[in-house]
Amino acid sequence: MSTTAIPVICLDGPSGVGKGTICLAVAGHLGWHILDSGSLYRITALQFSRLFPDMAANAVDEAQLVEMASNLSVSYRQINNELVIMLNEEDITQLIRSEKMGEKASQIAVIPSVREALLARQRAFLQAPGLVADGRDMGTVVFPESVLKIYLTASPEERAKRRYKQLKDKGIDVNLSALVEELRVRDDRDMNRKAAPLKPASDAIIIDTSTLNIEQVTDEVMHWVDQRV
Ligand code: C5P
Repeated sequence: MSTTAIPVICLDGPSGVGKGTICLAVAGHLGWHILDSGSLYRITALQFSRLFPDMAANAVDEAQLVEMASNLSVSYRQINNELVIMLNEEDITQLIRSEKMGEKASQIAVIPSVREALLARQRAFLQAPGLVADGRDMGTVVFPESVLKIYLTASPEERAKRRYKQLKDKGIDVNLSALVEELRVRDDRDMNRKAAPLKPASDAIIIDTSTLNIEQVTDEVMHWVDQRV
């Protein structure tokens, strides 16, 4: 399938940088679809941990994992600037957001065959009038011909603080220093894996959001959209 006809904006970057929020805001401005690619890894991790509650991700049979990733019965709805995710008939929007599920997602995301299994599904999100895609390899692997690639970054401390606030607001009890360490481990794994490691595409625009709020980052991205799209 050609990815040139329908425009794609890629938002890549490390954990907790605010990609999801910015993705929703930009898609809202443009009236475009969104792809939260991390959710597919998280949902695969959720299925996996339900089927094999005591097993480490790296101990599972790869063929089973690929089968699972290929057959996820998942649907997405964009409601009032929020993404609602259904697995079969179950609303799993909140369930997959835990740090534990992020960690498991990152463990299975190192497996090339799992990434391959999720590739066509991610590209199927490409529908008119356009797509805003967030993840780690949107600009480098999934949509390399996209019209605009943005790489969002921020210091680990700032990202941990943002994630801490997000989880607290949802009533989830977390420890800030544990969160800093979890983000560090996950970034390290995502950046150093062999398959589709997290890195800016060579033609990406890098935005350091450490000192910017959501509106400022959205404005900056929209500035580039006006130039390029
Ligand atoms: O973005 P999110 O935190 O939901 O992603 C969870 C994990 O899924 C990441 O830490 C990463 O390991 C993996 N992921 C990936 N490629 C993507 C999106 C997410 O490897 N495009």
